[in-house]
Amino acid sequence: MKNIRFRNKIIVKLLVSIAISLLVSIALMILISQFITNPYMMNSTGFSILKYNLMMFIMFTVAIFTFITIFLFMVRRKLMYLKLISESVNHIANGKLGMTIGIEGKDELTQLAQNINYMSKELENKFEYERRIENEKNELITNVSHDLRTPLTSIIGYLDLLKKGQYDNKLQYQECLEIIYSKSQRLKYLIDELFEYTRLSSPDVKLKLSEVDLAGLLEQIVGEYIPIFEKEQLSVQKSIREEYIPVLMDVEKMVRVYENLFMNAIKFSLKPSELHIKLEAKRNKAILKVSNKTEKPPVNDVNKLFERFFRGDKARRNNHGTGLGLAISKRIVELHDGIICAEYKEGWMNFILEYPIYRK
Ligand SMILES: Nc1ncnc2c1ncn2[C@@H]1O[C@H](COP(=O)(O)OP(=O)(O)O)[C@@H](O)[C@H]1O
Ligand SMILES: [Mg+2]
Repeated sequence: MKNIRFRNKIIVKLLVSIAISLLVSIALMILISQFITNPYMMNSTGFSILKYNLMMFIMFTVAIFTFITIFLFMVRRKLMYLKLISESVNHIANGKLGMTIGIEGKDELTQLAQNINYMSKELENKFEYERRIENEKNELITNVSHDLRTPLTSIIGYLDLLKKGQYDNKLQYQECLEIIYSKSQRLKYLIDELFEYTRLSSPDVKLKLSEVDLAGLLEQIVGEYIPIFEKEQLSVQKSIREEYIPVLMDVEKMVRVYENLFMNAIKFSLKPSELHIKLEAKRNKAILKVSNKTEKPPVNDVNKLFERFFRGDKARRNNHGTGLGLAISKRIVELHDGIICAEYKEGWMNFILEYPIYRK
């Protein structure tokens, strides 16, 4: 928080105001006694103690009134500011978080207003953060329940058929079992992905970091995927520099990211088409770009694909994936101090992955 260095202390201001008010009221008293009371008493014949007391009383009343008026006049701005601060604190306490008080002057009240503004902003951020976490948690529970219920409902339905013996022959019985088996596999896959996502989202997730040659690692993984790409009518154009690109990574986790990118390319590419995989080292960054031809993406901002449970229509139709793959990838890349982003340009979907090159 930025602190204003306050030069004018309030106590000095108050003392000055008191002194000035006092001086003015004393001066007024002298003037009154000099020009009104003294001449009056001199000229008056029937002078009495009562008249004298009355005059003194009026004189002192005027002096005290003058003192109070001048003092209030001099400190009125500070009083109004104090009132504003007090009202603002009241509003903040009643839930108007984030509200700020205008900064005036350079004294302790300014400092107080500044501290209250800081507190109000901090409270607002904290509340916003907690509200967001709460919403995300609710959304997660809703999505998870929905995704888990779908295969579970089929499993229960088919098991019910088998239990009631509602099948005509052994073949139908076998088919039911096959469906139950595949739906159970899907359920397990969903639960595993969800478990992985929540595990990676926890703040104390630990990486098993080791130094790896990124070029060598990618060559190996792409090599393993080439037969699958070819079977899926994707011809791979790879450009991986043959130099040693050292990076610190948790290999097991990072391989998940590459596999998700490659599996997505297989699932969402137009076929037959090309798949471009390019790795280059630029200054202190290793940059991997995976590009495939695809239909127009389901959203304008393709970085929305990284949101959890986001699935395009095609994935939804085919009941493919969970929509957690890219969210998990993003989290893993960020744990490695890297960034992952997507861009869609002229029919090409590009995923760009950057992370720091490790220099000892
Ligand atoms: N290479 C790609 N080309 C086109 N669309 C993609 C690609 N990768 C991901 N997408 C879109 O992003 C969505 C989310 O991907 P992802 O998080 O991996 O989930 P999932 O693979 O489980 O559907 C996909 O459903 C798809 O619509
Ligand atoms: Mg995926």
